[in-house]
Amino acid sequence: MDRSVPARLGGHMSDAADIGEHYDRRSPIGDELRDGQLHMWYWYDRADPASLTEAVHRLTRKVTDTLGLRAGEHVLDAGCGPGETAVHLATGFGARVTGITVSDYEIARATERAADAGAGELARFEYGDFMDLSFPDDTFDAVLALESLQNAQDLDRVLAQLYRVLRPGGRISFSDFSLGAQGDPVRLAKFMDTLKLHRLPTLAQWLEHTRAAGFEVEEYTQCGPRVFGKKAKYVEAALSRRDEVTAKFGEDAVTEFSRLHHGFFAPRKDQVGYVIVSARKPLSR
Ligand SMILES: C[S@@+](CC[C@H](N)C(=O)[O-])C[C@H]1O[C@@H](n2cnc3c(N)ncnc32)[C@H](O)[C@@H]1O
Repeated sequence: MDRSVPARLGGHMSDAADIGEHYDRRSPIGDELRDGQLHMWYWYDRADPASLTEAVHRLTRKVTDTLGLRAGEHVLDAGCGPGETAVHLATGFGARVTGITVSDYEIARATERAADAGAGELARFEYGDFMDLSFPDDTFDAVLALESLQNAQDLDRVLAQLYRVLRPGGRISFSDFSLGAQGDPVRLAKFMDTLKLHRLPTLAQWLEHTRAAGFEVEEYTQCGPRVFGKKAKYVEAALSRRDEVTAKFGEDAVTEFSRLHHGFFAPRKDQVGYVIVSARKPLSR
């Protein structure tokens, strides 16, 4: 049975400009709270003492480690956010990184962050829509899409683009939300609207899309209980920094940021899963 949630429940379809504006508005405070990474966290349990920053870095490491990067390899960070993940790839692995995003704020912030980290030569950022990439075929040794495929208007087209620009034998890793336990569809629709998700595939459907693009899946994980399942720990951590963030951005901006994210918290914690998938472009087809 196809249990994926259709796009219409998640609301309007958005183009790259709309998505870019979405991130331009959310990324500055998101960047501050999660140290330059606009993705989820990974906490083992309620008593886990890791800070929000540590929990977010943990997820960065879990996803990027599956790429098996070697120094000098060229990585496409497709949907790079404000740059901390790319800096990790450059400084942690010695990889050359090209980060693309549709948010002007993120390009500027990521460029500044890489320069501050002394990684300006290795990590570069530019405007790019992963629906229509301008890179030649077989350009990259690896592709990372850390919580960015969720915004793809046409997932199969984006995977085909990523396949095209990856060299034969190259690796792709992505992580994203998945459909979890059955539950109130209205709560899921609020979640999807808030994040501008076009679909919420099950783990099996994520794997189907990946294989249909031609990739060979080599590893996958479902860690929803330690990610979306720990949303209460995120709320606790974010509230503990409210005064500090308000002092920097102002009360109105923080209130607006909270309002924009209200729907994120709507689903029951087991309704939304989280998948990490790693796959390879075959050497020959
Ligand atoms: C949830 S954020 C994740 C950012 C980053 N990967 C991280 O983990 O911090 C989603 C990212 O995908 C990017 N994105 C969404 N749609 C895109 C598109 N059509 N082309 C390129 N990037 C896109 C957004 O600009 C944003 O940087």
